[in-house]
Amino acid sequence: MNTTLLNVKLPQPEAIKYQVNIGTELIKKIPSLLGTLTPVARYIIITDTMMNNIYGTAIINIFKKADLQADIITFPAGEKNKTEATHRKLTHKMLQKKCGRDTMIIALGGGVVGDTAGYVAATYMRGIPYINIPTSFLAMVDSSIGGKVGVDTKFGKNLIGAFWHPEAVIVDIDYLKKLPQTQLVNGLMESIKIFLTYNKEMLEMVENNWKKVLKKDLSLLQKIIARSIELKIGVVTRDEHEANERMVVNWGHTIGHAIEHLSNFSFGHGYCVGYGILVESKIAELMGVLSIEDFEKVCEMMHGFGITKKALKDILKKFSIQAIVKQTLIDKKARNGKVKYVLLEKIGSVKTTKGMFGHEIDKNMVKKALTYFTK
Ligand code: GLY
Repeated sequence: MNTTLLNVKLPQPEAIKYQVNIGTELIKKIPSLLGTLTPVARYIIITDTMMNNIYGTAIINIFKKADLQADIITFPAGEKNKTEATHRKLTHKMLQKKCGRDTMIIALGGGVVGDTAGYVAATYMRGIPYINIPTSFLAMVDSSIGGKVGVDTKFGKNLIGAFWHPEAVIVDIDYLKKLPQTQLVNGLMESIKIFLTYNKEMLEMVENNWKKVLKKDLSLLQKIIARSIELKIGVVTRDEHEANERMVVNWGHTIGHAIEHLSNFSFGHGYCVGYGILVESKIAELMGVLSIEDFEKVCEMMHGFGITKKALKDILKKFSIQAIVKQTLIDKKARNGKVKYVLLEKIGSVKTTKGMFGHEIDKNMVKKALTYFTK
């Protein structure tokens, strides 16, 4: 398969430019890619213990063979470990190893690794370069692109962090071969989210081929990944700091993050986003923005991937609607105790009002949408 090259170019305040490489057998080519980036004296590969067991030796050998100094530092896998404590431990390990500013971090792993390692890079000695090698579908199509790095707190997800862009992103889809199907669906939700809001044709492509997708047809997955990334690059280029349009890539996330947090991360992020998409589509339908037909189409499509109304009903038995609504108030899009929601207008596009993508929604409307799924 050919490698797809996509460019990220952010204009202001500083010119940021990096390339996203999407293809197979890219890991072997890391040394030649590193030769084109900021010259450094050494590399620190940050990964989780699970990824280290599978890929650690192979990646370190690639560096050794190319005569590049590299060490691996790890932390336990899982969203529960995307914390300030992990950030501190990783930073201290690097200080113990006497890493200077001439060090580059290689983030190897899923979204948790990318966000945490990227945040270490953003803060280590006031910022050092890093590259992102996402190994999960979710990280490939969403979290590795756009420079958001950070950690969770007991108050909510991603509440501490920075915008710190990698020098390159390497999306080696060979990593997907070992990915369990639940993880594939988990990541697919981010692609479905961006297609539902921006690209009807790609959504139909996924719908028409979902069996092949779930069977991991790699050329199909490469197409889905490349198009998802391309759409996300477009959004981030137009609104890097989420002042307006970038809220769209967080569609489904306000409710999704609340469920994820209240469940203590027992459901995958993508699944929570999937449930969030159902509820936030219902809000749009109740507001008269989305037609009932399109709302049902969204539900039908999600059903195909196991994100069912019944599963959401069972989740809503565990947490009170009050608790979910309260948790949404800590969302980064909340202002003066009011949360802004993105409203799906039809399949493939969202509503804007005077150019604004976020809409303040009364909490009673959110409660009404959640209540619909309890029946
Ligand atoms: N993952 C959402 C964003 O990058 O804004």
